[in-house]
Amino acid sequence: MFITVDQAIIKLRDEQIVALPTETVYGLAGLATSNLAIDKIYQAKNRPRDNPLICHFYNLEQILEYVEMVPSYVNLLSDNFCPGPLSFLLKLKSNSPLLAATLGSEFVVCRIPNHPIFLQVIQSLNIPLAAPSANTSTRVSPTSAWNVEQDLGSKINGVVDGGNCEVGLESTIIDCRENNRIIILRPGKIGQAEINELFTKNNVGNIEIINQPKKVAGSDQNPQVIPGNKYRHYSPKTIIKLITFSSIENLNPNSILIGTKEDVQILKDKFLNKKFVYLSLGRENDLNEISQNLYQVLFEVDKFNQKQAYWYEFDINNSSIGLAIKDKLKKILTL
Ligand code: TXA
Ligand code: MG
Repeated sequence: MFITVDQAIIKLRDEQIVALPTETVYGLAGLATSNLAIDKIYQAKNRPRDNPLICHFYNLEQILEYVEMVPSYVNLLSDNFCPGPLSFLLKLKSNSPLLAATLGSEFVVCRIPNHPIFLQVIQSLNIPLAAPSANTSTRVSPTSAWNVEQDLGSKINGVVDGGNCEVGLESTIIDCRENNRIIILRPGKIGQAEINELFTKNNVGNIEIINQPKKVAGSDQNPQVIPGNKYRHYSPKTIIKLITFSSIENLNPNSILIGTKEDVQILKDKFLNKKFVYLSLGRENDLNEISQNLYQVLFEVDKFNQKQAYWYEFDINNSSIGLAIKDKLKKILTL
């Protein structure tokens, strides 16, 4: 059910749950201080109860009301990138009302979303909102209101339509619990390169920025700081397999091929007589466009009710957004 912003505010105040747009993906929001609302979010998403909820704030000042003193670099990062797709793992003050959202953990992931609707709602309520991505657990994150409606529509109290999400991939999450070290726990549009550049410009030295080391199988070393990382994510019902040019010839008619705009054109010209279905991710040299379209394409794939679809591989560079796309692909593609 699509609802207005004013209706969303009333429902949230009443401890109901509604989907709201952000610049990354749609979030399923509820009062971060309400056990009832938090419980409803877990139920609607069918989310495992060991996976805490990211909390959304209006600005850094509001975050600071809830957390212990933050390293000074957090102020600089927030001044430059927030509102925006960068989230901070911080330590809560004791007896925090946000323990409902963190499932009792003394650490909280804080995000200031860059969407006027979301910010307006938090400001009106003057309470942080817990909002995981608005999808059934393990399914693709929604980047349009319609995606949310189709996945969760009957299980939640409404969806506010704020258009298509601009970034299309979840926010970067960084561990800010140490003064001299930042650990990137989940890659996103803002990465090591952007943070480094900002620090250099502002003469901030002595802060190490590292990617979270991968967990060593069978050992307790490097346990996942973010519980959500251990789950299979982003998967459409259709299995998606990599395919090379030479194998395309042998595909059945009506097979689904996913590729860049340029590759789709090449394949269409080459396989004129085959009735393939093509889904375009966007221009090869524009990874922002590709990240914006990726989840949308995965939603489309399922509409064809086929067992599998094929990903025509293309080079993705190691820019921050490129690394984020590759991180998602690892979880999407079946080898
Ligand atoms: O861009 C985003 O971050 C989107 C939009 C809606 O804001 N939200 C999002 O939420 O991606 P979710 O729940 O799908 O992913 C948040 C991740 C999860 O993997 C969860 O395990 C982790 O953050 N997380 C949340 N709170 C945490 C906490 N207190 N400690 C450790 N990890 C936490
Ligand atoms: Mg999610």
